[in-house]
Order: sequence, then C-alpha cells, then structure tokens
Amino acid sequence: PIPAKIVSLQDYVDAAARALPAPTWAYLAGSGADGLTRAENRAAFDRLRLRPRVLADVAGGHTRLSLLGQSLTHPIIVAPMAFHKLAHPGAEEATLLGAAARDALAVVSAQASMDMTTLADGTSGPLWFQLYLQPLREASLRLVRRAEAAGYRALVVTVDAPVNGIRNEEARAGFALPRGISAVNLAGLPAPESPPAEGGSAVFDGLMPAAPTWEDIAWLRAQTDLPILLKGILDPDDAARAISLGAQGVIVSNHGGRVLDSGLSALDALPAIRAALGPQPAILMDGGIRRGTDVLKARALGADAVLVGLPLLAALAVGGAVGVSHALEILRTELEVAMALTGCKTLSDVSSKTLWNS
Ligand code: FNR
Repeated sequence: PIPAKIVSLQDYVDAAARALPAPTWAYLAGSGADGLTRAENRAAFDRLRLRPRVLADVAGGHTRLSLLGQSLTHPIIVAPMAFHKLAHPGAEEATLLGAAARDALAVVSAQASMDMTTLADGTSGPLWFQLYLQPLREASLRLVRRAEAAGYRALVVTVDAPVNGIRNEEARAGFALPRGISAVNLAGLPAPESPPAEGGSAVFDGLMPAAPTWEDIAWLRAQTDLPILLKGILDPDDAARAISLGAQGVIVSNHGGRVLDSGLSALDALPAIRAALGPQPAILMDGGIRRGTDVLKARALGADAVLVGLPLLAALAVGGAVGVSHALEILRTELEVAMALTGCKTLSDVSSKTLWNS
C-alpha cells in the first residue's frame, strides 16, 4: 500500500531517495556535474505566475488532445528512462501497467531492462520507442524493425547524449549496474570493431566518430513510416532542421539535466522553438515537471504535451505499478484543478494569456 503521506510527485521522489540504496539513487537522480541545469529546470517553472480567472463556465471541460494523429486522454507522458529494474523488480512491465491504468502514453527506452517486444505485447496502452542511433546503421535498423513489428507508434530519437555527461554524483557513490540488469534490447546488435584508443582524445577520436549526425536523421527518415520525434532539442535552428528533414516533432529537453551542465532549462527554451516552428509541428517538453501547474505553464509556452521522468521512477520504486498509476493520477488531477482555476475548459484554452505577465 502507498503511505497516506504521499500526496505529491515530490513526496515520491523524497520517499524513493530514502528507500533505495545510495548508489542506485545517485544513478537515478544524479545530474550532470554540479546540477545547475537540473536546478534550473525547476527554477524556470517556479519563476512563472499563472493568471487566475473566476466564474468561467468550465463544466464539461476535459484534458483530451490529439498528438501525431493519436487521441490522448491527457497530455502527461511517461518519459523514456533506462533500467527500471533498478527501481523495482517489476521493472518496465510494472511502469507500463501503471501508465495504462491512467491512459498515459509511455515511451520505452532503448536502454530498457526488459525486452521491448514482450513489453509491447503485455500492455494495452499506447507506446512509443526511444531510439539511440547505434554506431552501425544496420544495428539501428534492427531496432526500428523490432519497434514496428511490436506495434510501437512512434520513434523518439534522443540526440542530446552522444557522450555521457560528467556524472560526479554517480561516480562518488560508486554506482555500477548490478548483475542481472542490462540493456537487453541492445545485446547482440552488430557493433563496430572497437577502435584502438591510442593517444588521441577519448571524446573526439574515441566516441564522436561513431556518434550520429544530421545525415543519419535524413537516413532514418527514409527507412520507416513511423513518426519521428527528435528528443533533446533546445535550439530553434536545430528544431527547424529536424522538421525540415521530415521529423514530425521535437521534444524540448536537456535530459533532465543529466548530460550537459550549465545549459538552459527546457522550459526557457520552449517559446523560441514554438515561434520558429509555428503552430503545426508537435512540440513536447520535459525536465522538472512536478505539478499540474507545471503542465499548464509548459502548455502556455507552446508545448502540446509533457513527459515526466524521475518522479515516475520514484513512484515505481515506492509502489510498483500502483505507485506509477497514483503519481499519474495526482498530476492529472492537479492539471485539471489548475485549468479550472485559470478558466481553461480545454487544453486549447491554455495560452500565453494563462500566464500573468503576458
Ligand atoms: C533518463 N532520461 C533518458 N532519456 C532518454 O532519451 N533515454 C534514456 O534511456 C534515459 N534514461 C534516463 C534514466 C533516468 C534514471 C532518468 C531520470 C532520466 C531522460 C528522461 O527521458 C527525461 O528527459 C528527463 O527525466 C526529464 O526530466 P525529469 O522529469 O526527470 O525532471
């Protein structure tokens, strides 16, 4: 049973921090370097003020939306996260059960700790697959074909982590993946012979030659009919380039502040990207969403929908599928309360006017 004291997403984060072994928590909640970007993701939400509106007739309102041609009950999506087994033995299967119970779209990570086909077969909820482009195109293609065959409805291509961030919290805590937990979907993929790492730069000569570039996005677009979203976009020019190469949308994100530190918050990056792309392309955002009012603020600045990361893994750790379902319900209810109190009957009523100073 979920402790009665847990009533918010942050309560789940705090409870998980107490419950999990310190090294595991350092991996799950750890930031890049000094955590400046992770803190900024939150601070950006906290700086904004909403505009209360009274006596509006919002009876019969709802949170429904259409995204990439899919009908969703609400705009709260489970972010792709590696290794759910670290949080709970029920792993991704339990997360998806909790998500399906609340009609939440979920994105399965390329680094999931359970088989992507088994996961898709086992859930009634809508799923997208998060892809890291692999050093060999043949390997990426295998993942794409598996995603298509398993019924995933879109590809989320994460482009902001071609190298690991400077993960000091994780390193200090001495985190290592426990035996029995691994990225099972990446096992056995064709891989290049590892280059001799003599002398040169580990980053520029070791890792980056195998990292994807825009050409690979153009290539991927030609390989599949699935909608493609690029995740980890913060710059309007990058966003425009993604769309011009045939992506259906972008996810404005800094990976929860886990990679580049000192970058700007995802929320602050949002308005210029919506301005650059215009009303049509799908724009999602993540990083720091903890309250229904945050969902409203993201929507007011141009996001169609949001993804939630760490709090849902924390809820999984504390309460398994029930925890995930509860956390999603909390957030959805908070969103509805915030909409009602700002006079928004539907998500299309949420606009820059929903914010105080605009
Ligand atoms: C992530 N994230 C992530 N993103 C991705 O594209 N592929 C991945 O495998 C992972 N793995 C991962 C593991 C863990 C433990 C966390 C917390 C996050 C990033 C994730 O999708 C999302 O961008 C952020 O988590 C959003 O920020 P919040 O909601 O955690 O503040």
